Amino acid sequence: MAWSADDIPDQWDHVAVVTGANGGLGLEVSRELARNGAHVVLASRDQGKADHAKADILAEIPDASLEIQSLDLASLASVREAAAKILAAHPTVDILVNNAGVMAIPELRTEDGFEMQFGVNHLGHFALTALVLPALLSSPEARVVSVTSTGRHSGRAVDPDNPNMDGRYDPWRAYGRSKLANVHFAPELERRFRAAHATAKSIVTHPGFANTDLQARSVRETGGGRSQRFFHNAVVRYGMTPARGALSLLRAGTDPNAVGGALYAPRWVNWGPPVRRPLFGRSRSRKAMTTLWDVSERETGITFEVMTR
Ligand SMILES: NC(=O)c1ccc[n+]([C@@H]2O[C@H](COP(=O)([O-])OP(=O)(O)OC[C@H]3O[C@@H](n4cnc5c(N)ncnc54)[C@H](OP(=O)(O)O)[C@@H]3O)[C@@H](O)[C@H]2O)c1
Repeated sequence: MAWSADDIPDQWDHVAVVTGANGGLGLEVSRELARNGAHVVLASRDQGKADHAKADILAEIPDASLEIQSLDLASLASVREAAAKILAAHPTVDILVNNAGVMAIPELRTEDGFEMQFGVNHLGHFALTALVLPALLSSPEARVVSVTSTGRHSGRAVDPDNPNMDGRYDPWRAYGRSKLANVHFAPELERRFRAAHATAKSIVTHPGFANTDLQARSVRETGGGRSQRFFHNAVVRYGMTPARGALSLLRAGTDPNAVGGALYAPRWVNWGPPVRRPLFGRSRSRKAMTTLWDVSERETGITFEVMTR
């Protein structure tokens, strides 16, 4: 039987934090977690959109337990502030869905000077996960969900000597690199959870091809870039709905049998119900994983150590 939203177990008593919860896949993940009883922290950048997303969920699920937390992953100060507020309000976090992302945009820098796609898609999430770790480790069965893409196949592992692609920027290569970083981060975090005898699991997902704002934004931000327009037209015609795209993330976050360190993605690569899929090639490089971890600690200035009590 194909895994569907009906398979989400009761989430009563669970606290979930979802980044990029104000639209696209993040909104649908938040909606389904709330429907099943979780208290959901909608960690979002655009507060107008976040209010709208909250109202949208409440219109459908009036007793949904929701809270908005301002979070700009392109600012380490914002990540620190959001993490501190989350920790103060929630000593235990059961599910962290590191979903927010940008794709194939022009060359930009985050507030801290990081190349934007690497900064938002990976470094901001690395920092957030490290900072809310105490709350994750106090859950009996925490999940950290990372979100990659088939774009990872066109990405190279981070170059420790040039983490911001100075002089080498290309919108798609930068996206691929950030999505390869997501697929390197998750198994490395899982390995560290196991080494520390933590009960938490770290899982990576690919949602498939889903008609969200991702492609439309890449067209807007590049002023109508040709390849960006190609993918936007394709996703409008052939993409899954955001609700279907959210299923891989929901399975990784809630299926009791989901395997730590594994990839969950649509059965037919970009379409279909979520299943466990193999990781191969560059995605499995241990050296790339540890290099990424070191570079992420160096760039963010955050030591990410998994230590259980
Ligand atoms: N849709 C697909 O076909 C597809 C395929 C493969 C992978 N993915 C991955 O799925 C994830 C979700 O994307 P989506 O398809 O749902 O796209 P989306 O509709 O564009 O949503 C992206 C979300 O990320 C948020 N975001 C962007 N920059 C941010 C920042 N600096 N700080 C905090 N939040 C920020 C956006 O919030 P604001 O609007 O407030 O900026 C929005 O909520 C991404 O990681 C993407 O790479 C999507």
